[in-house]
Amino acid sequence: MTIHPTGEVRTNKDQAAPAGGEPVLSLRGAAVRVGGRTLWSGVDLTVGPGEFTAVLGPNGVGKSTLVKVLLGVLPPAAGEVRVLGGAPGARNSAVGYLPQRRSFDASVRVRGVDVVRLGLDGDLWGVPVPGLGRAKRRAAHERVAEVIELVGASAYAHRPIGQCSGGEQQRLLIAQALIRRPKVLLLDEPLDSLDLPNQSAIAALLGQICHQESVAVVMVAHDVNPILHHLDQVVYIAQGGAVAGTPAEVITSDTLTRLYRTPVEVLRTSDGRLVVVGQPEAPALHVDRHGDQGTRGTGRAAGL
Ligand SMILES: Nc1ncnc2c1ncn2[C@@H]1O[C@H](COP(=O)(O)OP(=O)(O)OP(=O)(O)O)[C@@H](O)[C@H]1O
Ligand SMILES: [Mg+2]
Repeated sequence: MTIHPTGEVRTNKDQAAPAGGEPVLSLRGAAVRVGGRTLWSGVDLTVGPGEFTAVLGPNGVGKSTLVKVLLGVLPPAAGEVRVLGGAPGARNSAVGYLPQRRSFDASVRVRGVDVVRLGLDGDLWGVPVPGLGRAKRRAAHERVAEVIELVGASAYAHRPIGQCSGGEQQRLLIAQALIRRPKVLLLDEPLDSLDLPNQSAIAALLGQICHQESVAVVMVAHDVNPILHHLDQVVYIAQGGAVAGTPAEVITSDTLTRLYRTPVEVLRTSDGRLVVVGQPEAPALHVDRHGDQGTRGTGRAAGL
């Protein structure tokens, strides 16, 4: 692991393609700018097939923006980004995506099963598909049922999605993201608003999809604890830089202190949860709320 002058830390693992061939996605010296501001720079990351990677960091540091870069929605301001051997966006049919904070109003009458199906032919929504024969329709129908079964949503998939609970909606949306058998799954806070048992269940499901079906999962998470046991690596973004490595390498007092450039302590509770104490607020939040670029420790404790 090497620490660079700007504070970011790179692991040896980042420099090499993982065993089993070309990485599924990679960033080399990547930087991103939005609204005339550089959110992060000098980010190096390699994700191999079937690796489970969490993207962590405080609010506003650019985690969702990283996902947008990987989708090809936002070009990097510097460096190189490759996804499935090409430019980001070029192979999005092999990328499953679950955006941050999505929920359906109770009045939405579309059934869960139809929302899942949209993942297969959403780009053809409302357009008659010439030549889509009976065999193809049957295959599509079977795939929808299969993926709904996989996420454990069969019991409510035929109900209007607006009448499903937040956790049920989440499972149906994960099914939608999975339906095309993606090689990469980009999930932006999929455990948001779920209770602890559902967080654990969805984390286990994603771990299983990732490791058994060799789907590379990149998941933005507010709290690493529910997914900790399933993770191969984490990317922690803060202070305009990033640290990548195994959870044991990254989520330590030393590494996070160097990343944040202020004393930060990582504590382990008796039940094995990791808690970060003293992490400063995100610079963006300081600008908004205090009008400066402050990096003072707040002394508050927070889940990762
Ligand atoms: N199009 C844009 N123009 C200007 N600023 C933007 C734009 N998109 C995002 N930002 C800003 O970039 C910063 C990073 O946004 P992003 O959504 O990536 O943060 P995040 O790390 O995902 O935060 P959270 O944990 O709250 O979801 C924020 O300060 C946001 O306001
Ligand atoms: Mg976000």
